[in-house]
Amino acid sequence: MKTVVNSWNEWDPLKHVIVGVADGCCIPPSEPASEAKIPADSDMLGMHGPRTQDSVDKANAQLDAFAEIMRKRGIVVDRPTPIDFSKPIATPDWENGSSFGCMPPRDVILTVGSEMLEATMSYRSRWFEYLCYRPLLSRYYDEDSNMRMESAPKPRLNDASFKSGYLSENITIQARLAMVADKNFVTTEVEPLFDAADVLRFGRDLFVQHGFTTNLKGIDWLRRHYRDHRVHALNFPGDPYPIHIDATFTPLRPGLILNNPERALPNDQQGIFKKNGWEIVEAARPAHNQPPPLCYSSVWLSMNVLVLDPKTVCVEASEVHTIDQIDKLGMEVIPVPFRDAYPFGGALHCATTDVYREGRCEDYFPHQ
Ligand code: GLY
Repeated sequence: MKTVVNSWNEWDPLKHVIVGVADGCCIPPSEPASEAKIPADSDMLGMHGPRTQDSVDKANAQLDAFAEIMRKRGIVVDRPTPIDFSKPIATPDWENGSSFGCMPPRDVILTVGSEMLEATMSYRSRWFEYLCYRPLLSRYYDEDSNMRMESAPKPRLNDASFKSGYLSENITIQARLAMVADKNFVTTEVEPLFDAADVLRFGRDLFVQHGFTTNLKGIDWLRRHYRDHRVHALNFPGDPYPIHIDATFTPLRPGLILNNPERALPNDQQGIFKKNGWEIVEAARPAHNQPPPLCYSSVWLSMNVLVLDPKTVCVEASEVHTIDQIDKLGMEVIPVPFRDAYPFGGALHCATTDVYREGRCEDYFPHQ
């Protein structure tokens, strides 16, 4: 039998990938997890329901074109199967007006070696999203006898999982930043919670952002699950909405990471990188002052790039400063128009998840 699933890091040569689709994507109604995450001045506030067909078509056009760029370079591209996201959902504990979508597979599926793991997720609206990837994961499972199809324990996400009244709408950005610096996040520690997009893979070491979408129990679960790995928690106190690590900390190749200058990794957490000769470079400023309308993410999606191999990176086409910076760092940049897809769940890293990269599990951090 052939090996279908194999990926140990964020930069080895990519050969097989999943690219999300925008079909049927909804803005879910407010829920305990999301209240803390939508800025008070956001155009998302109070919005819910299916996104317009015109916006879905535009996002899909860019997703399809991105998939085609990769196919032309010999990368196999698979697509998920959307469920009906507009349908109200429920568990014995709660009901929610809709699901979200399946544009950002990176949020849900974590590939480490031959295993694809469905994350617990931390929003009610994203509880059933794994179903969109089951047809692909089941196929890989049938085709590759070494492939491990895993699911982290489904969380209850009842009221005990969230701090009640965590934030008022009128809280200042300074107060938010103080809470984040204090590691005071919206989730409690009653059950393991993590989104896959809070994890970065560096061979034997996994770096996980502790923030709004991943709690300490989730990081502990990952530590117990990946017994051959070293799992490290990271915090980025300058981010008022610490949701997913991939617009904050971006490894480009062994030894080189871009770090969001507004969300610098604190000195006391830099030791492992310094001891092992990794350079952490301040990322270039985004080219835009605002994200596109009805977008959950910040302008720092400029950093949400997809590394195709240690010399080649896909960067959003209008992010001229990022393109220039990565070019000067000696890598080939493939510009990919993608801003129409941003509101559906992020940029080029979010919109993909690895199935196969060449290479093996290496130790990039022998000095712990
Ligand atoms: N958390 C993703 C962003 O910066 O928008």
